[in-house]
Amino acid sequence: MSKDHRSVVRRGSGSGRLPKTGSRPVVTPIWPSVVYASADADALDAQYEGRAEGYTYGREGHPNWTVLAEKLDWMEGAEGGAGAGVVTASGMAAVAAVCQAVLREGDHLVAGNQLYGRTLRLLRDELPRMGIEVTLADPTDGKAFAAAIRPETRLALVEVVSNPTLRVADMEVIGAACRAAGVPLAVDNTFTTPRLYQPFRHGADFVIHSVTKMLGGHSDVTLGYAAACDPEIAGRLYDVVVTWGMTPSPFDCWLAERGLNSFDLRFDRAQANAAVLADHLAGQPGVEAVLYPGRPDHPDHNRAAGLLGGQGGTMVSFRLAGGRATVNRFLRAAEHIPFAPTLGDVATTLSHPASSSHRGLTEEGRTALGITEGFIRVSVGIEEIGMLKDELAAAIAASQQG
Ligand SMILES: Cc1ncc(COP(=O)(O)O)c(C=O)c1O
Repeated sequence: MSKDHRSVVRRGSGSGRLPKTGSRPVVTPIWPSVVYASADADALDAQYEGRAEGYTYGREGHPNWTVLAEKLDWMEGAEGGAGAGVVTASGMAAVAAVCQAVLREGDHLVAGNQLYGRTLRLLRDELPRMGIEVTLADPTDGKAFAAAIRPETRLALVEVVSNPTLRVADMEVIGAACRAAGVPLAVDNTFTTPRLYQPFRHGADFVIHSVTKMLGGHSDVTLGYAAACDPEIAGRLYDVVVTWGMTPSPFDCWLAERGLNSFDLRFDRAQANAAVLADHLAGQPGVEAVLYPGRPDHPDHNRAAGLLGGQGGTMVSFRLAGGRATVNRFLRAAEHIPFAPTLGDVATTLSHPASSSHRGLTEEGRTALGITEGFIRVSVGIEEIGMLKDELAAAIAASQQG
């Protein structure tokens, strides 16, 4: 190499080398840097001891992480001295972080028996390995849930609207029982989102989200969020996330932040579509039942009306008359609606819980929850509603021609 060669690495890439500008970007920049340089050892001490602001190492914090967490805190009412949230690399990491932050060997957890399938596996396979006992109770029966609380119970975990049967938990009774027993209540607010329910306003101690779903909204990012209303426990959540390596990447945080900008619009449109679609599906020959909390025939319609402010949400489930072959015909016929194990995308997606989220249960276990082979869950998107109605009606008709 010539001695005149000028190595570009010497020019650096830190912000000190960025072009000067008197204006500011209107979009949050992405900071992919894994490390941050400090002026000297005293400056680093000051950062670590909280006397000066600054980032050091990406797993311990980065600007895109902070920006996204602050926005989610604001949406969930976790800001302003009421504790704060941490963004995690997935929704499951958020569930795990809350458990790790609170529970230790010998403790007991009471949880809803209709949680997301992987959360149920965490409770069934992982926590007992760590000496933590778990009791599952029916969250739609507040008294039964309360009766499962014991002196050694250290955490309660529920989803407000269950997947995939869309049952609505008895949140007022569960919340009162937890408060009376001094048991912190964690609420997975993924299905409800802050638009339908605000756990902190109802006295919950933790809020959990899979940001992958409605909040991110575009199926291009896997992220979670966990917040505690007690500032000390919020700090503990931060330590768990950083130490167990659950920190998300700057680009994922940036994508989710961008998704949040359209959250309200997407939610309103998808919810309006869902309400129309629920009634439309109920009128189709071949549909045995439609489950939508906004419909008067839903078993928890009255509770949903009170708890969710009369809103029905963006998810609709229904039971097709028939078994696996009928379901396969339906899924193949609905060729423009992806059959994909997720929810909350701008596009409508279909899922078949018996072969995906709830495949880990026995057939009896599924039947007890009302999940038959013909059970289909629709995550309703923002498409033009006429197109959705036509495509689903045609696919249902095709499914019945076996
Ligand atoms: C209610 C609920 N909680 C948690 C999760 C886990 O989220 P993730 O897939 O982002 O890990 C999901 C995923 O579907 C979910 O539906």
